[in-house]
Amino acid sequence: MPQRGDILELTIESSAFEGMSIAHLDGMVVFVEGGVAGDSVRAKVSRTKKKHIEAKVVEVVNPSPQRTTPRCNYFGTCGGCKWQHVQYDAQLAFKQQHVIDALERIGGFKGINVLPIIGSGDLYFYRNKLEFSFGDEAWLMTPPPPSPVRGGSEGGVFLGFHVPQRYDKVLDIDECHLQSNLSNEIVRFVKKFSLKSGLPVYSSKLHSGYWRNLVIREGKNTGDVMVNIVTFEDRPNVTKELSRQLTTEFPEITTIVNNINTRKAQVAVGETEKLYYGSGIITDKIGSYVFDISANSFFQTNTRGAEKLYSIAKEFAELKPSDVVYDLYCGTGTISIFISNAVKKVIGIDIVESSVQNARRNAEQNAVQNCEFVAGDLKDLLTKDTAWRKDTLPPDVLIIDPPRSGMHPKAVEEIGRRKVKRVVYVSCNPATLARDVKMLAPFGYSIEKVQPVDMFPHTFHIESVAKLHSQ
Ligand SMILES: C[S@@+](CC[C@H](N)C(=O)[O-])C[C@H]1O[C@@H](n2cnc3c(N)ncnc32)[C@H](O)[C@@H]1O
Repeated sequence: MPQRGDILELTIESSAFEGMSIAHLDGMVVFVEGGVAGDSVRAKVSRTKKKHIEAKVVEVVNPSPQRTTPRCNYFGTCGGCKWQHVQYDAQLAFKQQHVIDALERIGGFKGINVLPIIGSGDLYFYRNKLEFSFGDEAWLMTPPPPSPVRGGSEGGVFLGFHVPQRYDKVLDIDECHLQSNLSNEIVRFVKKFSLKSGLPVYSSKLHSGYWRNLVIREGKNTGDVMVNIVTFEDRPNVTKELSRQLTTEFPEITTIVNNINTRKAQVAVGETEKLYYGSGIITDKIGSYVFDISANSFFQTNTRGAEKLYSIAKEFAELKPSDVVYDLYCGTGTISIFISNAVKKVIGIDIVESSVQNARRNAEQNAVQNCEFVAGDLKDLLTKDTAWRKDTLPPDVLIIDPPRSGMHPKAVEEIGRRKVKRVVYVSCNPATLARDVKMLAPFGYSIEKVQPVDMFPHTFHIESVAKLHSQ
């Protein structure tokens, strides 16, 4: 059995989930970080377990034809885009296969009609939100080569992303290819300003300091830009000066807010928010509808991808003007509003009260009058807290868009018993999609087709839309 630190010579056979790849050594599975199917590599053992070994590529001896040069200097350390070294076609093929495997292995389904995956129109700069962290500890990049070793900026202020599993360390970055060039320029500017300010970065060990996060949100279809500076303390003079300089340098910025987070929790959300420029809100468009986005409100992070996903859900639902649709896990009501003009009524349900309030406001602002929103835990609203159903017609169609963890079994059971004829399940996790649909099967539901959609190139995330029906 190899030991930690040993170097193994391996041939990578296939990709695995979460950005890993698979090889075998004397019949044992090796999960290899940084490998591409078809590579011959030398990899260093990072962990040994009873049934498998984990290793990280240190040298690519013979590259796979599927390998490509990562665009980003920080690839291999940042942890954000695990697959930048894999050609996009191969990424899509893996995602497609992953959906099929999950349905077969977890769901126990055979011969499901899984349509060819729809790739993303934008391979880079597709995100409308990025959250950067300030840190006061340098983090040097560990290769694999040819990534250069990068340090942080001088003076003990670093601004970038947390290194995976290292919440005390920040990888200082000058650019990220996921949002926009403007966003990169703003990051560099704020970093310089924070250095010059002489104010310390917030330290969770000392529970003191000033700088915590920088969050940039962009309306991809409107051009709006929000800068949210998250700090531990309220220092109006500092934020005022930063805002003045930012708006002079970047006239594209439409609003600037300061979230003040005095808690230990390392989240980029303050208990108070102060407005320094503009209205505190940006807007973005999905289809013909306009949505308000405030610093802490939920909005799909790939606007154009979301529109594609919603269009497929709408098509799969085969909506009729007489339909009553329940949009389960509705968030801020984007799907409800997107489909509202094709149906009689939509009822959206979500557990987060503020999202439901946003959903109501979004409907109102778009002059949509046939959507209603209910706040609460779906399993309770379906099983015991049923007062909301008193004046509500039963659904003709369900659109279900749960979090990665999928649905609560009690919610699945209740939906099973109702035998709704048309069900569209929008999933961000093929494993829980397969599990939930397997639970629905004994109630007479079956899968008609599944459409995988890639909204997050270079990451292992896969969305899919499944069309189900009940007999
Ligand atoms: C993947 S998001 C979908 C949001 C929305 N459909 C969209 O496209 O923007 C999942 C949503 O499920 C909600 N949620 C999570 N657990 C829930 C529960 N037990 N009951 C109701 N909603 C829940 C979350 O608040 C979140 O808004």
